[in-house]
Amino acid sequence: MQINHQWLQILSASLGVAALVGCTNPAQAPVRKGQFSQRPFGTTKDGIAVNLYTLRNTKGAEVSICNYGGLVISLKVPDRNGQVGDVVLGYDNLADYIKDTPYFGAMVGRYGNRIAKGKFTLDGKEYTLAINNGPNALHGGLKGFDKVVWEPRILARPEGPSLELRYTSKDGEEGYPGNLSVTAVYTLMGDNALKLEYTATTDKDTVLNLTQHSYFNLAGKGDILNHQVMIPADKFTPVDSTLIPTGELRPVTGTPFDFRTPTAIGARIGQENEQLKFGGGYDHNWVINKPMGKLGLMARVYEPTSGRVLEVLSTEPGLQFYTGNFLDGKLTGKGGWAYQFRNGFCMEPQHYPDSPNQPKFPSVVLKPGQVYQNTIIYKFSVQ
Ligand code: GLA
Repeated sequence: MQINHQWLQILSASLGVAALVGCTNPAQAPVRKGQFSQRPFGTTKDGIAVNLYTLRNTKGAEVSICNYGGLVISLKVPDRNGQVGDVVLGYDNLADYIKDTPYFGAMVGRYGNRIAKGKFTLDGKEYTLAINNGPNALHGGLKGFDKVVWEPRILARPEGPSLELRYTSKDGEEGYPGNLSVTAVYTLMGDNALKLEYTATTDKDTVLNLTQHSYFNLAGKGDILNHQVMIPADKFTPVDSTLIPTGELRPVTGTPFDFRTPTAIGARIGQENEQLKFGGGYDHNWVINKPMGKLGLMARVYEPTSGRVLEVLSTEPGLQFYTGNFLDGKLTGKGGWAYQFRNGFCMEPQHYPDSPNQPKFPSVVLKPGQVYQNTIIYKFSVQ
């Protein structure tokens, strides 16, 4: 998946979209018919103006992404009657994201999910991270990749309109070693799939685990308990009471964690089960049955009233399936919807939580000279 920028720029120019790149005044942007638009979305605490970039395909799908945090602000796809509706939770404006967000729509880094006690050792040196979730470090720290401004560039790719986002994280930022250069490219594909491709390089040994934290509700309202989920995983990683994996890869057979055949989220979520108790519902990592690094299916979700189907594909070894157990009605989002308990679910393809401290888990170490690659696809259809 090496990106040939020169070729893309030539293509962009021929389609008349190159002038969008770095353009601060949307009125001056010559937008190619229907595929792209952009508008101001607000200003960060540091006074940086950020934009909302909208990509559209010919099937009626549309995604709007902000270059603050790479946030997916809205994602509109058809239901079985062709009615287009927004299937992600979030806010109407940047100020609400800055004030309080449980990572709605966010690109998460440097390390998705938890690192125990905010400490890890690499090459004999101990690193200390901010403790921001109980006794642990969560989702990259106090100012993770979901809270930084990324440098945007619109690309016209043969497979669909794309937004490229770049960010260089400095050596020591949020306690992590190495200057890390990250590129994220979102593409809205012709088949109603949203693809996110991450690449990254470092100048010192470091640890890295990038993911995407959109909250989905395929009905666009209510709770998610009737969504039927299939996860092709024979095992999951059980956790302690602070949601740190114990290190065990536990078979799902005979447990509420067996989603190998499609099952409603609500069917077993209320069962008496220590793991469900620790998570307040599902908030666990599944060990997906597929070869490491190979793009493959991680989950399929079907919502019976709308007929919408979400397939999650990725190159990552694990899937964090989180059922919005911390939502409690206090955050009011788009269209005045107060997000209640389990009104959205996340499917976060990633390496297993706390891998830097778990020698038996696949390595998350990135070394100078290596190129980190991670592809995540959210593909929508109807049934
Ligand atoms: C992840 C975690 C959850 C929770 C959410 C954010 O999915 O696994 O425990 O912290 O992020 O609210």
